Formats: sequence, structure tokens, C-alpha cells
Amino acid sequence: MVDPLTGRSVGNVMLAHPWAFETIRTQHEIQTMPAIHYILHDGTEHALDAPLGDSVMIIAKDNDLQGILAECGGACSCATCHVHIDPSWIDRLPPKEDLEEEMLEFVEGADETSRLSCQLKITEDMDGLIVHVPENQY
Ligand code: FES
Repeated sequence: MVDPLTGRSVGNVMLAHPWAFETIRTQHEIQTMPAIHYILHDGTEHALDAPLGDSVMIIAKDNDLQGILAECGGACSCATCHVHIDPSWIDRLPPKEDLEEEMLEFVEGADETSRLSCQLKITEDMDGLIVHVPENQY
């Protein structure tokens, strides 16, 4: 086997590039992976594969989706990952934790459909979730 980065033979040694492990998924995971639908302010819709356990924010960032800044990286301390949940999904998501509620109080344009996308972890029953990304986060 040849290391694609160095061109050197590495025999039967397993290559241990960190990104290689991040992208390996089992066939079962691929077949059962939910899709999340992001609707941007301009009306465009993006249906993205959503690995279980990832957050709605991480999926957007991993796919270079515009509109979700996530400046704190998911620590629930910036509120720049604000999204509006489609009304058809509001009652189907887990309730907000106290910290998320507090952070949303400072978000301009927040309403009863607002969530912080970093706090929404993907589960199997979230397949088809629709989130609306606001025009801006400030
Ligand atoms: S990424 Fe900062 S609160 Fe969600």
C-alpha cells in the first residue's frame, strides 16, 4: 500500500489520517441517515444528509451552507446559529434547555419557532425536519 500523501510504501500498515475516520460510515448508517431540509432566506432549499448525533448546526457548517455563523462552535453562548423550525415540526422536537431559552431572549427576530441549531442533535425521527435560516444572525 502506498501513502497517497507521501508516495512512500507503507506495507500493510493502516493509514491513520484523521479525516479518513470521520467519513467512514456503515451501510446501515447510510441507509438510515435522516435528511434535514434547510430553507434559506432567498427561498432556496437544501436537503442534507444528517448523521445521527450531529447537530443541525454542524451539518450546515460541514456543507458550507450560508446563514448559520455558529461563532462559538456549538457551546450555546453566541446564538449565531439561530433558525426557525417549520411549524409542522415544532411539537416533534425535544424541548429547549434553560440555557437555550435564555440565549434566544437576546436574538433579534426570535419567536416561538426559534431554536439554536447547535442544540438540536439529530435522531432517526428527525428525518425530513425543515428549518428556515434567517437572513442574518445579528
Ligand atoms: S453555535 Fe453558538 S449558540 Fe449555537
